[in-house]
Amino acid sequence: MSAFKDARHLFRFAGLFVLAFLVFLVVRHYYVPKSFGQYGHYRGAAVGEIANLPVKFAGHQACEDCHTDVVAKKNTGKHAHVNCEACHGALASHADDPSTVKPVLPDTAVLCARCHTASAAKPKGFPQVEPAEHSQGLPCETCHNPHSPGMDAPATAAGGAK
Ligand code: HEC
Ligand code: HEC
Ligand code: HEC
Ligand code: HEC
Repeated sequence: MSAFKDARHLFRFAGLFVLAFLVFLVVRHYYVPKSFGQYGHYRGAAVGEIANLPVKFAGHQACEDCHTDVVAKKNTGKHAHVNCEACHGALASHADDPSTVKPVLPDTAVLCARCHTASAAKPKGFPQVEPAEHSQGLPCETCHNPHSPGMDAPATAAGGAK
């Protein structure tokens, strides 16, 4: 008998592997999207799909073109580098059509606390407060102008705080 007399079960096993590999190739052919690998290890068509999503943020330049008074105010204080939409949310729809889409003004109790609530994780130099204790129940904008929050140029309401 041949030298492979006791090896036949191995060939059968190898055959199974080949079969499994063929099944894998067939399944792969149907399941891998057509544009996969077009540019790299991802679905090429995704680029176009993402580019077609509606734009949500207008960018601060757009806001500044129309709201020049707010920009002027904002540039006088520490919020100069905080972008409009960081506080007002995504407003491309308003920027495209200001007369139909009216932005809802932010609730300062939520908004200001989001950035300024004291936390050990924040850099020491960043201005932080315990909102409830600090504001004593008054809305932040009673004393701080959101667009220029410093105390050296007191806000209009409540006679300004000191
Ligand atoms: C094409 C000009 C234009 C652009 C761009 C624009 N706005 Fe406006 N915005 C207006 C006008 C006009 C009003 C006033 C609407 C009214 O009261 O009838 C307004 C109103 C607002 C209000 C509400 C004011 C209030 O008293 O309720 C906010 C907040 C605002 N804009 C923020 C933004 C932000 C943030 C951006 C940038 C994402 C932006 N706007 C881009 C023209 C513009
Ligand atoms: C730090 C957060 C913050 C930033 C940054 C900011 N805003 Fe505001 N803005 C507010 C809040 C809060 C109010 C509402 C104040 C109130 O209720 O009295 C407001 C009010 C407004 C209003 C209504 C009229 C007024 O002056 O109160 C307009 C218009 C406006 N913002 C536009 C802008 C634009 C344009 C920018 C960027 C150049 C900007 N805001 C940046 C927080 C912010
Ligand atoms: C009754 C007036 C008043 C109200 C309301 C108020 N503040 Fe102040 N805030 C002040 C004064 C005065 C200062 C400056 C003196 C100081 O450092 O305590 C100040 C300072 C700050 C500072 C700077 C702290 C630092 O370490 O430099 C932050 C941040 C601040 N306030 C955030 C807020 C927030 C957020 C709210 C709303 C939850 C709020 N404030 C409500 C009066 C007020
Ligand atoms: C998106 C984050 C963000 C939000 C929201 C925000 N701030 Fe600020 N705030 C900042 C940054 C950044 C600074 C500058 C910190 C610095 O100079 O180190 C600042 C500075 C300040 C200061 C110090 C001003 C000074 O002259 O020393 C006060 C007070 C303040 N903010 C109050 C507020 C109030 C009131 C609101 C709500 C209307 C608010 N902030 C919302 C990011 C934010």
